[in-house]
Amino acid sequence: MAVSHTLLVTGGAGFIGSHTLVELLAAGFDVVVFDNFQQGSREALRRVQALSGRSFPCVEGDVRDAAALDRLFARQAELGAPIDAVVHFAALKAVADSVARPLAYYDNNVQGTLALLAAMRRAGVSRLVFSSSATVYGEPQALPYDESHPIAPTNPYGHTKAMVERILRDLCMAEPDFSAVTLRYFNPIGAHPSGRIGEDPHGAPDNLFPYLTRVAIGQLPELRVFGTDYATADGTGVRDYIHVVDLAQGHVAALRHALSGPGFTAVNLGTGHGTSVLELLAAFAAATGVAVPWRPAPRRAGDIAAAWADPRLAERLLGWRASRDIAAMCADGWRWQTRHPDGYAASGAGSGNSAGKP
Ligand code: UFG
Repeated sequence: MAVSHTLLVTGGAGFIGSHTLVELLAAGFDVVVFDNFQQGSREALRRVQALSGRSFPCVEGDVRDAAALDRLFARQAELGAPIDAVVHFAALKAVADSVARPLAYYDNNVQGTLALLAAMRRAGVSRLVFSSSATVYGEPQALPYDESHPIAPTNPYGHTKAMVERILRDLCMAEPDFSAVTLRYFNPIGAHPSGRIGEDPHGAPDNLFPYLTRVAIGQLPELRVFGTDYATADGTGVRDYIHVVDLAQGHVAALRHALSGPGFTAVNLGTGHGTSVLELLAAFAAATGVAVPWRPAPRRAGDIAAAWADPRLAERLLGWRASRDIAAMCADGWRWQTRHPDGYAASGAGSGNSAGKP
């Protein structure tokens, strides 16, 4: 990179944020992390610094706090390292929790993004990469989902992501120099191959992979497979699992795109391959030698049978495609879990103080 760019990374202490920091630093970007540590971990940031051999400022704060954001942008300008672009992860992300606490989700995810965008405009920053989700598509009209699939989320969390996408689209129309790349994640799993950073859900995990690894390590008795009568090859739900390092590298490509010119772009980050729950269990056993006990359970409310991405736009537009297979996702995720049976907590300090993860 000829010119060095300084990035504000909100929610950088979370699962996807921490892995993305490693890739952004490796690509030569300078970063400033902004995180309220309610879900993210300070220890994750220390390890990112150790892994990358680079230090960076970490500011504790909430994206809904306009004054804190103004101070951060102003301070970076004073230091001669003004923020060039923002990578915005900070959000609440648990679907069931969003059904129970919709106002918390609209407040954090929508109001938080509005506060961030307003602060960016005051500071003259007009480049953004936004963490969206494949959940914005809702019930599939056709598979794979491509980016022109109708937007029809089925839960408050999905609505918050769809609303922010709408806001960004409108902003890019109104302000012709604004650039926003919104990344629709499929199912990120696995961990950095070093085993030093990974997913650290507080309490019983909601998602399949961290639940499975907790059963594998003996902290939970068995996996419940939610639905064995779906119209899929083996009756269990099919998803597009993507290695979190591939996903992280997708952000680097998206950021380069955002820096290259204005406009709104929505892009899937997935592999294009669907894997069922039972196929994932088999792949995990093959990669790790651990057979995870499971039993059939009723379908989970709100789940769809199958979802996978059409990943071609990301390749065409960003020059990015996922390269790591399910075996690598399982082996890397298992390395993290076995080395850190209690997540970051056992490292002495550092986890946040409430449930969930970004
Ligand atoms: N599953 C089980 N047992 C479990 C957990 C999950 O059988 O204990 C099954 C689910 O029924 C589903 C599959 O495993 O078939 C994947 O479930 P996850 O909860 O891991 O992932 P989802 O696809 O339901 O949702 C995830 C994120 C959402 C995001 C969505 C994007 O949790 O935030 O992917 O597609 F919106």
